[in-house]
Amino acid sequence: MLPRVFHAEDGKDLAQRIQPRGYLFSIVKYFGPFLLLAAGFFIFGARFFDTRILKLQSPKSGFLPCITVEPSGINRWIKPPSSLLHNMSDHELFWLASFAPEVKNYPFKRLPKVAFMFLTRGPLPLSPLWEKFFKGNEGLYSIFIHSLPGYKASYPKDSVFYKRQIPSQVAEWGRMSMCDAEKRLLANALLDLSNEWFVLLSESCIPLYNFSIIYKYFQRSHFSFMGVFDDKGPHGRGRYNPNMAPLITIDQWRKGSQWFEVDRNLAIYILQDTKYYAKFKEFCKPPCYVDEHYFPTMLHIEKSDLIANSSLTFVDWSRGGAHPATFGKDDITEEFMKKKLLSGWDCMYNGQHSSLCVLFARKFAPSSLQPLLQLAPALLGYG
Ligand SMILES: *[C@@H]1O[C@H](CO)[C@@H](O)[C@H](O)[C@H]1NC(C)=O
Ligand SMILES: *[C@@H]1O[C@H](CO)[C@@H](O)[C@H](O)[C@H]1NC(C)=O
Ligand SMILES: *[C@@H]1O[C@H](CO)[C@@H](O)[C@H](O)[C@H]1NC(C)=O
Repeated sequence: MLPRVFHAEDGKDLAQRIQPRGYLFSIVKYFGPFLLLAAGFFIFGARFFDTRILKLQSPKSGFLPCITVEPSGINRWIKPPSSLLHNMSDHELFWLASFAPEVKNYPFKRLPKVAFMFLTRGPLPLSPLWEKFFKGNEGLYSIFIHSLPGYKASYPKDSVFYKRQIPSQVAEWGRMSMCDAEKRLLANALLDLSNEWFVLLSESCIPLYNFSIIYKYFQRSHFSFMGVFDDKGPHGRGRYNPNMAPLITIDQWRKGSQWFEVDRNLAIYILQDTKYYAKFKEFCKPPCYVDEHYFPTMLHIEKSDLIANSSLTFVDWSRGGAHPATFGKDDITEEFMKKKLLSGWDCMYNGQHSSLCVLFARKFAPSSLQPLLQLAPALLGYG
């Protein structure tokens, strides 16, 4: 088929010009032969031109692609989806997201990005702080938000959080629906081929350093960061169910904080697992809190050489109780930030001692926003 657009418009133009009947008559009478000749040239020319375009565009199939063009060539495959909304089921989404190239040499310039994945109930009260953190680093990150399905976000167009909500479902703490939500975040983020590192965060998390420090930390690390430890007490091994053997023995059972950072390779690994998933779904129900055990245990068994066995997100359990401490307005002082969060650390980074061990911290109440905004430029290096 030839494109019709040009001919049709030309016809419409002509029809408008020759509307008065007398005018039409005189044109046909005096200029008829000349018009015929011109039309002949035009059609021949258009066909000739079209054929050349056809040859250039699709040498084999010989028909023109749609006029509103989809990107052809490699762009069709490497461009991230223009909208985060879709109607895929988890099954469809996880399958699609698990595609990985076997040719490791990218045929385009790939600037690896960090995917910041926010697992929230609804709003992000600390978003003004995050906006400052992201500012000036466009192209090096992307943001994904999973919130309760009923929540309608209303970020202004110039916000980094504008339209970054992914299709979400109810996620309950300690249940498999929480791990499903984490996998949903990973899968949506994987659809952007440039995302290389995936960080899970909550609405009460803050970044403790500027973007470039955090970016380089991921970029240079030989390992992903998943908290993994062997808690021999009732809240650790005490939650193990012997029915999980022989796939998982009690010696292999691990616990860890939910707040991880994994690279692309491990993100895909997490998505493709069905073996461990089935066991945890059946045998780890409250008081076995599956989001504290599933990923840590699985990665410990299968991928222990790829993970630093610690999380990069600081949580304060020192006050005791079932929930970690929440910091509010009155807690946020320069001294608190320096002593509690920014100094006194010692960990291994690529096999060497480092004092840079936590990059994020929680839990910060909404009331902490103003003091944090004030302290951030001097203490945290952004804002
Ligand atoms: C999802 O499906 C609904 C109903 O079929 C449709 O109205 C909506 O536009 C679809 N959304 C997307 C993002 O495709
Ligand atoms: C980030 O912080 C480090 C250390 O404080 C500083 O050297 C660097 O210039 C900062 N980067 C930016 C882009 O502000
Ligand atoms: C994490 O723990 C595993 C198993 O104990 C170990 O093999 C691995 O080397 C540890 N990772 C790092 C980075 O030390």
